[in-house]
Amino acid sequence: MLTTSTGLFAKALAGKYAIGAFNVNNLEIIQGIMEGVKAKQAPVILQVSAGARQYAGSIFLRKLIEAAAEIYPEIPIVFHLDHGEDFEICRDCIDNGFTSVMIDGSKHPFAENIALTKKVVEYAHSQGVVVEGELGKLEGMEDDVNVAAGAGSYTDPEQAAEFVAKTGVDSLAVAIGTSHGAYKFPPEAEPKLDFERCAQISAKVKIPLVLHGASSVLQDFVAEINSYGGEVKDSQGVPEEMITEASKYGVAKVNIDTDIRLAMTASMRKNFKEQPENFDVRKPLGAARDAVQKMVEHKIDILGCGNKI
Ligand code: G3H
Ligand code: 13P
Ligand code: ZN
Repeated sequence: MLTTSTGLFAKALAGKYAIGAFNVNNLEIIQGIMEGVKAKQAPVILQVSAGARQYAGSIFLRKLIEAAAEIYPEIPIVFHLDHGEDFEICRDCIDNGFTSVMIDGSKHPFAENIALTKKVVEYAHSQGVVVEGELGKLEGMEDDVNVAAGAGSYTDPEQAAEFVAKTGVDSLAVAIGTSHGAYKFPPEAEPKLDFERCAQISAKVKIPLVLHGASSVLQDFVAEINSYGGEVKDSQGVPEEMITEASKYGVAKVNIDTDIRLAMTASMRKNFKEQPENFDVRKPLGAARDAVQKMVEHKIDILGCGNKI
């Protein structure tokens, strides 16, 4: 069933676990995610980015998510806009079935971020939709979420309190050391997240926090991709123990996209290499779908949100 995140986040904060937010781009991804959450009996946030809308189109994506809600009526599904760029895209999503939107005003100066976020919150709340805001900048390179190395800045707890009080957002994405994509920490670095800052923000804002850029870039998948001809550069993601730990410091939503991409890519490369005679695309796509399911089940174990529906 489609729902907002309000009740799910309240339960997650109380139970000190987090809910997985997975990016949906096509049929195989959503099927893999839904089979994974069904197997684990976990609530789920299905999120759609600007890149996904460009790739698949917003109507196809909406219909896929409506289909998931119909096929899995027992699973609480939040239909979420990931990194909404401006008021217009948020309004369009609010008017078209989304139960949650993110307005990502983090690239704007503080006062502008507040004004934009507040405007989205007012419209969203009038329609029964919840809003995620963002304060602080994550570094990292993604198609539509692009902050150059060195240009990131961690979320300031005092500013976060002011931001939340002035905007009325329902949840807040924070910058505490994560970044988008497959290259988060150099191979030789010791990955670090600023959990003390996270705890301070949580104590001041008293709303659920969101961790973007939370993939772990699992090395087995990078190795498998590269063993079948890929050239994914050496790097590290966020260690999974840290993802589990984050929920102790007020994080209720954890965004994962890259790890699903890596799992699918590894599966497809293997399949093409091992079955060169095959031209039935359902075989590589079906195997990739199974790989998504396995990854999602694994992530649910890390997040602790299994059996929480
Ligand atoms: O936050 C970024 C997500 O991984 C979505 O990336 O814009 O390439 O779909 P995308
Ligand atoms: P990853 O690139 O670490 O998977 O992060 C995804 C994300 O934050 C989507 O908003
Ligand atoms: Zn993100």
